Amino acid sequence: MLRLLAFSFLSTAFCFTACADPAPAAPTTTVAPAAAPTTPETKPAAPAEPAKPATAETPAAAAPTQPTPPAAPAPVKVSYNRCNVDGPYIAITFDDGPHGANTPRLLEMLRQRGIKATFFLVGECVAEYPEIVKQIVKEGHEVGNHSWNHPNLLKLSAEKVEDQIDRTHNVITQEAGAPPTIFRPPYGNFTEKQRQWAHDKWGYTTIIWDVDSLDWKHRNPAKTESIILSTTHAGSIILCHDIHKTTIDAMPSVLDKLLAKGFKFVTVSELIKMNHEVPPTPKAPKKTLTAKPEAKSEDVAKAKSTDKSKVAPQKKTTTSSKKTAKG
Ligand code: NI
Repeated sequence: MLRLLAFSFLSTAFCFTACADPAPAAPTTTVAPAAAPTTPETKPAAPAEPAKPATAETPAAAAPTQPTPPAAPAPVKVSYNRCNVDGPYIAITFDDGPHGANTPRLLEMLRQRGIKATFFLVGECVAEYPEIVKQIVKEGHEVGNHSWNHPNLLKLSAEKVEDQIDRTHNVITQEAGAPPTIFRPPYGNFTEKQRQWAHDKWGYTTIIWDVDSLDWKHRNPAKTESIILSTTHAGSIILCHDIHKTTIDAMPSVLDKLLAKGFKFVTVSELIKMNHEVPPTPKAPKKTLTAKPEAKSEDVAKAKSTDKSKVAPQKKTTTSSKKTAKG
């Protein structure tokens, strides 16, 4: 009896020590698990699938050999500049708000047209205008994290970057009623490593853009319109800023003309759900270098190239997010 007690005491003690170790790490990740399952891609679940057929399919005999055949699951895509979709779907995004006057005005324009948009919110503005955030969500739009006060994240320490994202994640979760699943770094500046980290920690997909209205720069409604109309294609993610009155001034016409062209507006997460990878075209591998600045090289490279003239050079792959974009 005494032995039993002693043994049970020791096991309990061991368990406590063993379980105590991971604990310190847990608090940092507590947010992420909550967000991860909401990721639309559900790719984390993929590894589990191969196991099911094995058990369901045949009796015990075949089971042991079955699990090997499935190829390694495709890596989760943690970042998008645009999507490949089978219809005229696009996502229009508005950054840096909410703004006390301009955002409600924009919401009314969107409501009148039945358009769903995506808002990348700055944490300190969320704290200032929580009611507008609630209205955005209530009216069916998507909200994403755009840092706390819009710094260049490439210039901050890892701790400060985490703080920028985490504070904003928390305030959006609080005001919007659910954690955001998408993140847009200010200026599009976020390394590949950081994108993977943000995905692992908060379940974020990093969203850049392929159509840059440059609205923050020229503050000209006519230019906003001409850039957007000339560079938007199916699958495009359009960058605008709802903190500028001139951007909102441009919107009725921009939205109406995009609708007239047959485009259908969806939120970024909806667009991502429709995305399918395009099989590599074997014929023109050299051209893909220029036509495929896609997710990878974009960010940092663009952040450095400070050319204004590059706004709309290529009509198909509008890599206008270049450096200039305010994001
Ligand atoms: Ni921004």
